[in-house]
Amino acid sequence: MTLQNKKIRIGILGCGAIGSRIAKSVKKELKATYRLNGLYDITHEKAYQLEKSLKINNLIKPSFKKFLSSVDIVVEAVNSPDTAWIIKQAIKARKHVLSMSVGKLLKSSDIFRLATKNRCCVLLPSGAVAGIDAIKAASLGNISSITLTTRKPPGGFGHNPHLISRGINLAKITEETVLFQGTVDEAVKYFPQNINVAATVALAAHDKSKVIIRIITSPNFKVNSHELEVLGDFGRIVTRTDNVVCPDNPKTSYLAVLSGIQTLKQFSQGLKIGT
Ligand SMILES: NC(=O)c1ccc[n+]([C@@H]2O[C@H](COP(=O)([O-])OP(=O)(O)OC[C@H]3O[C@@H](n4cnc5c(N)ncnc54)[C@H](O)[C@@H]3O)[C@@H](O)[C@H]2O)c1
Repeated sequence: MTLQNKKIRIGILGCGAIGSRIAKSVKKELKATYRLNGLYDITHEKAYQLEKSLKINNLIKPSFKKFLSSVDIVVEAVNSPDTAWIIKQAIKARKHVLSMSVGKLLKSSDIFRLATKNRCCVLLPSGAVAGIDAIKAASLGNISSITLTTRKPPGGFGHNPHLISRGINLAKITEETVLFQGTVDEAVKYFPQNINVAATVALAAHDKSKVIIRIITSPNFKVNSHELEVLGDFGRIVTRTDNVVCPDNPKTSYLAVLSGIQTLKQFSQGLKIGT
């Protein structure tokens, strides 16, 4: 793949809310450097609907293997328990990967080693939180603590098995309530659909033992917000991001999608600012 001379062949793996948005941006805003060359979704109808809305023929590949062979970079936007395995297959096939499911990579350091060995990039967008660039820089020195406080309205936690098993009825919550406080590993385990941000923070810090996650809900919260406080030898960072939800999926923040698109843009231009 030559970044300067040829368009980069890009494929969308998982044609749901995020995959579809990114595919549309590739067609519109990233068309100077990328050529959309593959779609794959375990639910064929999802891929079909996306192909139809893009008005580009022959994008859907009949198998994951054929999909991989048709692209240079994979946009992983699946919601699957096998995500880490899927990414590994892409890297084994020597493809670059932009992974949206950062929570699935927290315990997969072998993926990063394999990518280094195969000279592939695993790109992790900063997602729905501000401050990832500064955490990466600060991690070169000593970080003493990172607290990520995530606030979401009760609807953002619908059908969460962990809350159901603890007998928490979201509909009965009338005031600000701490649903969770604990480690990143626990947060990712109990809130897998909601907490990619926690995993991104931990990976940026290179030390998840310093990270505490708090998840708070209240019917008075109108947006999904992430507040970060980082303390270390460098000083103190405080950021707060109030997110508008993605129109296609209320569990996804719009900024997360934009950060995926921006990461792709910078990758194709050989440029890297912050994220
Ligand atoms: N990094 C971030 O900040 C951030 C923010 C929001 C969501 N996410 C993550 O991004 C991922 C996608 O989110 P979404 O909102 O688009 O989800 P979605 O449910 O809208 O779409 C996921 C798609 O993946 C498909 N899929 C499932 N298993 C598959 C497999 N094995 N092979 C191919 N396709 C498969 C589904 O059929 C579906 O179409 C999720 O893992 C989510 O947690 C990350």
